[in-house]
Order: sequence, then C-alpha cells, then structure tokens
Amino acid sequence: MNKKYEQLFKPITLGNGVVLDNRFAMAPMLIFASNEDGTVGEDDYEYFKLRNDTGSLIITGAAAVSEEGLGMIHQLTVYDDEKVPGLAKLADIIKAKGNKAVLQLHNAGREALGAYQKYGKAFAPSKINFPFLDYVPEELSHDQILSIIDDYGQATRRAIEAGSDGVEIHGANHYLLQQFFSAYSNTRNDDWGGSFEKRMSFPLAVLKKVKEVAFEKAGKDFIVGYRISPEEVHGENIGYTVDDSVKLIDKIIDGGADYLHVSSLDYKAMPSAGGKGEPIAQTVYNCINGRVPMLLAGSILTPDDALNALRYTDIAALGRAVIIDPGFVSKLRSGREDEIDFSVAGRFDKMGLSRVLIDFWKMENTPLPTLKGLNY
Ligand SMILES: Cc1cc2nc3c(=O)[nH]c(=O)nc-3n(C[C@H](O)[C@H](O)[C@H](O)COP(=O)(O)O)c2cc1C
Repeated sequence: MNKKYEQLFKPITLGNGVVLDNRFAMAPMLIFASNEDGTVGEDDYEYFKLRNDTGSLIITGAAAVSEEGLGMIHQLTVYDDEKVPGLAKLADIIKAKGNKAVLQLHNAGREALGAYQKYGKAFAPSKINFPFLDYVPEELSHDQILSIIDDYGQATRRAIEAGSDGVEIHGANHYLLQQFFSAYSNTRNDDWGGSFEKRMSFPLAVLKKVKEVAFEKAGKDFIVGYRISPEEVHGENIGYTVDDSVKLIDKIIDGGADYLHVSSLDYKAMPSAGGKGEPIAQTVYNCINGRVPMLLAGSILTPDDALNALRYTDIAALGRAVIIDPGFVSKLRSGREDEIDFSVAGRFDKMGLSRVLIDFWKMENTPLPTLKGLNY
C-alpha cells in the first residue's frame, strides 16, 4: 500500500463496539435489479458479488419497509417474510470477504412512485400540492403513522433473520423521514408536527423502534446507522438548515445510532442557508465530536478525494466510484491505485448493472448523478 493512503486503512469502532478495518463504506444505491414482486433479483446478486470488497460497511440500496411506501418497482423490499430467503442469500454474498452487510430501510412517502403506480396513492405527512409531483399525496393518519413505525420494527427483525450485520435508517434524500422533519413538507398540527420538536418525533420514533427490535432479537452487535441529508433548501423554501440538522443529529446519537451517515452530492459543499461559514460536513463532524463515527458521501471519486474527505469525516462512502470500478478499494489496498478506472467509457455493459438501471442512466434528464464516460 502507498504510505500516503495508510490513514484510509486504519480501523475504527462503531457506537456499539463493532470494529471496522478501514475507512471506506459502499454508499447505498438503488440499482433497479430486484424482481417486480420485490424479491431479490439475479442482477442484485451479480452486482454485490462484484462489489463485496468496496468498504468495511456495504450498504444495500433502499429496501421498502412498507408496501405503500414503495419508491420504485425493482427496488429491494423487506415488507413481508417471503423476502427473507433472498435477502439472506444477498447478505451471504455481501459478507463473503469479511465486510459488514447493512440493509437500508426506506419508505419513500410522497415520492412512492412504485406504490402510486400500483395503487394510485402515495402518502405524506401533509396533503400538499408539490410542484414537482404529478399527484397530490394523501395525508397519513395517526394510526397509519404508528403502523409504519411498526413496519420499521418488522423490517429490522427480517434483516436480522436474513443474517444482515445491521440496518441503516434512510432519513435522507427527501423521503418519508426527511418529509416529517422538513418545515416545507410537514404542516401538521398534532403529535407529529407543528413545532420543531414535533417534526423530530417521527424520525426519532422510527429509530427507537429499530433499536428496540435490534437489541431484543440480535443484541448489541447489530449495527443501526442513520442517514441524513444535512440541509433542505430550495430557494425561498427552506425545509431545514444545517443548524437545524445538528439538533436532530444530537438526538439521533442520544437515541443510540451506531454511526451517522451524511448524504450529499459534494462532500465539500458549503451551506445554502445558515451554517457557520464552513463546509456543511465540517459543521456536522464538529457536532458529532467523536461520539460515533461519521460516514460522508458525495463526489468522493478518487483516492485523493477520500483522503481529503477525512478532514470532515471518519469514513468515506463511495457511490459512483465503485459503480465505475468495483476494485477501487482493493486496488488501493494493494498499492495499485494507478489501475483504478475513473470512467465507464467502453465498459458500461460489463459492470454487473441491471438493464433497468442502465436505461435509467441513459434517460434524458435522468435524476441520477451522472457518470464520467457514459455516452448518453
Ligand atoms: C444509482 C444511484 C442510486 C442511489 N440510490 C440511493 C439509495 O437507495 N439510498 C440512498 O440513501 N442514496 C442513494 N443514492 C445516493 C448515493 O448513496 C450517494 O449519496 C450519491 O450517489 C453521491 O455519492 P457519489 O458522488 O459517490 O456517487 C443513489 C445514487 C445513485 C447514483
């Protein structure tokens, strides 16, 4: 290994005492590889077989915990017991090289396009006519909210039965947990909204339920992570700023999360509103202050980016970098960083990716972050 990168291969201990042997994680990516009925697909197995050494934590793409929260047809799902055998085979593949298998738990809320396609309905904290949606979501009732919290518990039990090492609660990227925290999306006036404190209730109730089930069924070694988008600012419309996020993050750590994962498009990004005149990740890192490890994703595309990201985080989460080159981490570990591919030019069809994902990427105005070398 090149001495320059040694820091990236130092061990680190999660909140629950589990030791990871390097500073890389694979970022969760929905790869549209599952079967239409939500069972794990052959392309899911292929994708993870190629990528089971891309970090000490390998986080799956979003897995739907509730049928009515299905973001996309062809995403992983964990909303009934029939999904467990496939998830177990997937966990075995992910763990084959000694890395930790983490299942990302997801409810898309208003953005449940898969559920909308199937049932003509999507649910959200509040019934708002959002300009970016073709439909108006239904407002969740108090009982529906309690039932979704229970679904997170059931999903955690299934992840344990499938042999996963942990789960990551997806509280980022405008999905249901974030919708509850956002002042823009949550205009309720009950236990689940109406004040800053109450907008934190749903994400914290989900964390509490997941922790309870994890501890009861698996004990303290089971990892519970939490992923957050550190700000939600759309011009005039401010859902929350990084100053708000750090207050939620404090509670998430108090609630027993074993790591905190920051989702962004650029790990060096400055705040769009509020903040402390420093990169957003720096503010979050200072807030966490070593209580649990932080993961950070966002345009960490080269080994030098990963090294630089360690200024603001403990663990670099790799997304597109390991789509492009599944050997990114193993090449770096063995001093072959010169052999890492940074572009998909000429190789796109040979990287264990599903046809649906490839077509999605090639779509005009694809919502996915772009890939270098992809011939649109
Ligand atoms: C194809 C694709 C699918 C994604 N799916 C998810 C997902 O399921 N859950 C999630 O939290 N983030 C998802 N993301 C965001 C990534 O985890 C990551 O934060 C983002 O790609 C930025 O990192 P990068 O610049 O290293 O790719 C996805 C990104 C891509 C490119």
